[in-house]
Amino acid sequence: MIGKNIKIFKELDSTNNFVKLNVSNIEDGTIIIAERQTKGRGLRENSWESDFGNLYFSFVLKNDIFRINIFKYIVQSSVAIIRTLNNFGINGVIKYPNDCLVNSKKISGILIESLGSKSLEYIVVGIGLNVNQVEFNELKEKATSIKLSSNKEISTIEVLNEFVASYNEVLESSFEQVFAEYLEKSIVIKKRISCKGKDYIISDIEKNGTIIIRNELSQKRVAYNEISLKELY
Ligand code: BTN
Repeated sequence: MIGKNIKIFKELDSTNNFVKLNVSNIEDGTIIIAERQTKGRGLRENSWESDFGNLYFSFVLKNDIFRINIFKYIVQSSVAIIRTLNNFGINGVIKYPNDCLVNSKKISGILIESLGSKSLEYIVVGIGLNVNQVEFNELKEKATSIKLSSNKEISTIEVLNEFVASYNEVLESSFEQVFAEYLEKSIVIKKRISCKGKDYIISDIEKNGTIIIRNELSQKRVAYNEISLKELY
């Protein structure tokens, strides 16, 4: 269960960094929120724009950690985000592996990091969800928010509460059921992808995140971290 403890900071460099630095003093499932981040981080060393008005949070998972394959945590978080958006009347989809889009624009991103040695393993799940931002400047064509998608201004804490309820529901369901929902909301099946200079179609996603790609000549299995998201379109 997550969200039993919630700590809100006005400003942090990055909620993921905070959790990683203080992991031994933070209980399993505790949520760390920053109203603003000065060094918000995204995937592949990208920065994550983190001004006031959106939701930036991380939580730590310490029990039953399965670090060999973090795809399970990506699936659970993505489905919880889709359910959260649904509760605000917004129909989101998942761009494999871990972006949620609304009207083809990104509304949230997930950065999962693992740390620890074999005997002490943690997963840090960091989520950025655009809530009340309406100006995206150079990201105008690529990013959206709850406010832009629904015309409603909602407090970030209300959105967080919905996420916590959705995520805890997801944890109660079987992974098979949650994975089926992930697939149903995924927009990459049948999309074209280029891998090592050759063109393929994505034909399936497996439970461990491996995707099956094929063309007239061959079929291949590719791990989710072996391809770049940019290649998906
Ligand atoms: C992505 O590139 O799509 C992932 C973005 C993840 C951003 C969130 S905001 C809260 C947490 N703290 C960070 O520094 N990053 C994640």
